[in-house]
Amino acid sequence: MTRDEARSKIIFALDVDSFNAAKQWVATLAGRVGMFKVGKQLFTAYGPDIVRMIENFGAEVFLDLKYHDIPNTVAMASREAARLKVKLFNLHALGGYEMMARTREMMDREFPAEDRARVLAVTILTSSTEETLRDVGIEHPVAEMVPRLALLAKRAGLDGVVASPREVPLIRQACGDDFLIVTPGVRPSFAATDDQKRIMTPAEAVAAGADYLVIGRPISAAADPQQAVEAIVDEIVDEMN
Ligand code: C5P
Repeated sequence: MTRDEARSKIIFALDVDSFNAAKQWVATLAGRVGMFKVGKQLFTAYGPDIVRMIENFGAEVFLDLKYHDIPNTVAMASREAARLKVKLFNLHALGGYEMMARTREMMDREFPAEDRARVLAVTILTSSTEETLRDVGIEHPVAEMVPRLALLAKRAGLDGVVASPREVPLIRQACGDDFLIVTPGVRPSFAATDDQKRIMTPAEAVAAGADYLVIGRPISAAADPQQAVEAIVDEIVDEMN
């Protein structure tokens, strides 16, 4: 794997609360990481301008808004996300087959296949435990629900899932190779674990089959963030060659 291939797998989580802070991070890391993740906080505060700001640096965006609503509403919101030219966006697989399939149909109808936004499903949030699921009437263990929902997403025509690194083998087994897996919760060997629990290094996650890695604090909290990215790229390249 080349350094640029390794670099293109890194998605930097823009977990900041101001437009200017986001812009500074993009200026610092554009060209060094593959993509920037915009979540609910930044998007609620600044809207599509935050996406355009990132794209003006020539960088790509993962719009992490996790849509979950009636099929028509999610399909229409998804069209707007894709019109912003984001590279990835996501929705909750728990919204059901029709919600996901209608979204995929919208993508196929409105955008050219080669460069349309890719749609990811969130299966079960990693913050959920068996108890969380039982409280809402789901009696199956997390380990059963994750591949089940991933497979449902694949059948509905979605492009992949967001999953913890530990779940990658299970999902690959259920959904095959032609399915994107994006994993947060990775920690390079040099970084603190923070509040992440079931971690792997970025290199281990890529070796296990992850296509993209969402990484925040190991880069943002480093004394030299650009150098932290290069160190992560080194670790991935070493592992894969
Ligand atoms: O700073 P850190 O590398 O832990 O950031 C990881 C990013 O991925 C954060 O934006 C976090 O919200 C997100 N995420 C996560 N675990 C999940 C889903 C999303 O850490 N299961």
